Amino acid sequence: MRAMQIPSDHPLLLRIVDDLATCGWSQQNMFLPEALTLELAAECRKRAEEGELAPAAVGRGAAQEIREGIRGDHIQWLEPGEAKSSDCYLGLMDSLREALNRGLFLGLEDFECHFALYPPGAFYKRHVDRFHDDDRRMVSAVIYLNSSEWLPEHGGQLRMYLEGQEPYDVVPVGGRLVVFLSSEVPHEVLPASRERLSLTGWFRRRGNEPF
Ligand code: OGA
Ligand code: MN
Repeated sequence: MRAMQIPSDHPLLLRIVDDLATCGWSQQNMFLPEALTLELAAECRKRAEEGELAPAAVGRGAAQEIREGIRGDHIQWLEPGEAKSSDCYLGLMDSLREALNRGLFLGLEDFECHFALYPPGAFYKRHVDRFHDDDRRMVSAVIYLNSSEWLPEHGGQLRMYLEGQEPYDVVPVGGRLVVFLSSEVPHEVLPASRERLSLTGWFRRRGNEPF
């Protein structure tokens, strides 16, 4: 996969910015070309097989703990330069970061993200992505790396609790992107009957490193 950069005024990105401004969230069903989704999925599986994914913790800093009753996914944070596919995704997210800054004046400085693998039956209980003691996370972005044939009966939905509305379920179909304001949308991941792969990330503004 060649390095892929798209301009920050690409219609796809402007649509996401617009959705965030009006609704606080956005769903794009074919955000990634299928070839890139497949390469990212292969990269995630390879890391899992090599034992690089670790049980995810809840909380932050010294308060971090592994609590499978809250979240049961295994994760690994991405760094630039690890694989062509992951660099390609980071490039796209950088264009989205610029688009968000231009359209919404969010002052986003960086993007952190991790691969996540939920074994069958694993879930992540209802939560909000912004930490209590660190308000740098502004916008959450999740891209699903599953087959394009994932069906609702396979489970694994992202359930979003949007204010004043019925809960909204996103089926984690491969190539689908969901973006939402990190401090405003409580959400949870429902258990699935099969392995569920994603890349989950956060656009962050500058902040003082707390304590
Ligand atoms: C998270 C999260 C949602 C998803 O990792 O914080 O809520 O659909 N992920 O994977
Ligand atoms: Mn979350």
